[in-house]
Amino acid sequence: MKHYLFKSIIFLLALSTILSCKQNKQEYNAENALDIRFKNLKKYPVDSLAFPRSYQITKDKIKKVPSKDWTSGFYAGNLWQIYEITKDEAYKNLAKKWTAFIEKEKFNDRTHDMGFKVFCSFGNGLNHENNQEYKDIIVKSAQTLITRYNDTVESIRSWSFNKERWDFPVIIDNMMNLELLFEATKISKDSTFHKIAVKHANTTLKNHFRADNSTWHVLDYNPTKGNVRMRVTHQGINDDSSWARGQGWAIYGFTMAYRYTKDKRYLNQAKATAAFVLNHKNLPEDGIPYWDYDAPNIPNEPRDVSAGAIVASALIELYGFTKEESYLNYSKKFLKNVQTSTYILPGNIEAPFILDHSSGDWSKRAEMDEPIVYGDYYFLEALLRIKSL
Ligand code: GLY
Repeated sequence: MKHYLFKSIIFLLALSTILSCKQNKQEYNAENALDIRFKNLKKYPVDSLAFPRSYQITKDKIKKVPSKDWTSGFYAGNLWQIYEITKDEAYKNLAKKWTAFIEKEKFNDRTHDMGFKVFCSFGNGLNHENNQEYKDIIVKSAQTLITRYNDTVESIRSWSFNKERWDFPVIIDNMMNLELLFEATKISKDSTFHKIAVKHANTTLKNHFRADNSTWHVLDYNPTKGNVRMRVTHQGINDDSSWARGQGWAIYGFTMAYRYTKDKRYLNQAKATAAFVLNHKNLPEDGIPYWDYDAPNIPNEPRDVSAGAIVASALIELYGFTKEESYLNYSKKFLKNVQTSTYILPGNIEAPFILDHSSGDWSKRAEMDEPIVYGDYYFLEALLRIKSL
């Protein structure tokens, strides 16, 4: 009898645990969870020298950067996009403040990251107000960016560091900066920016892709002869690997370049690299990639939500051009799977970020498996893009 009673108690305890787990799962409300995250961006103090870039959960430490950092434009972009989602003017007011802090970057010719900084901030602002000052800043930034263009290589130089190793490095990420140039031509009617963007895209198309349509990260060119000196990685696991975010930049970059040019070769490259990603044996079932498709310890490697978000956003646009359902299916799956308690930061964390599990820079062993501002940016963009279909 005693034994029977004990067994029954254990059974009831187990049942109530299962039921409460089930209930918790059902009770997880992604909309509420997102709203709480958005409010943490509203609470974050405005500071022109402290753009939130990433967050170490275990140390409760926000990495803050000045406007010259390549990621500075994403925070303002997130606020603009949250304003678009919520229509709450408080986000717009904040977006305007953070956007204004980036203006001085229009003179910064030491990097190629102008598009990330200026277009994700001022460019998003232009979606909400016809602001002449924003337009002028975009055009000035484009003028500065093209000073990095080399007519022999027919590319814009990406980085200026590592001069002992690289003569003229161009990274696949640089495709993303072309949007600023295409828009600068639309605003100013000066075709110089558009033409340089096309030259850069053509050179990237010719040299940056492997036979399987994956992309190398860094190509180093001879700036006086124009030939490729080496094809290597900087942030991937090795030179021949497929760094996940780089594949995302390629798909997004060539889809966007097709939007402005209608050049079918760009569309075909975007489709081919999308196929590489979507059919990759190491793309997990839930659609959230590991940080490098060739990372050695898969499945025990950090994911990179930012890489998935870039692809999800790009594939919604690519779906618009192709009506290829598998693109939309991926984006929907990604958005569904990141809007769960595994990926949305818990409400008790006050840092101004939305999603966990992005991976930044393996070469520095930094920001691996953390909330990162650009993961949030492309997630929000994908949400808005899918809504507007
Ligand atoms: N553009 C730098 C990165 O994607 O990490």
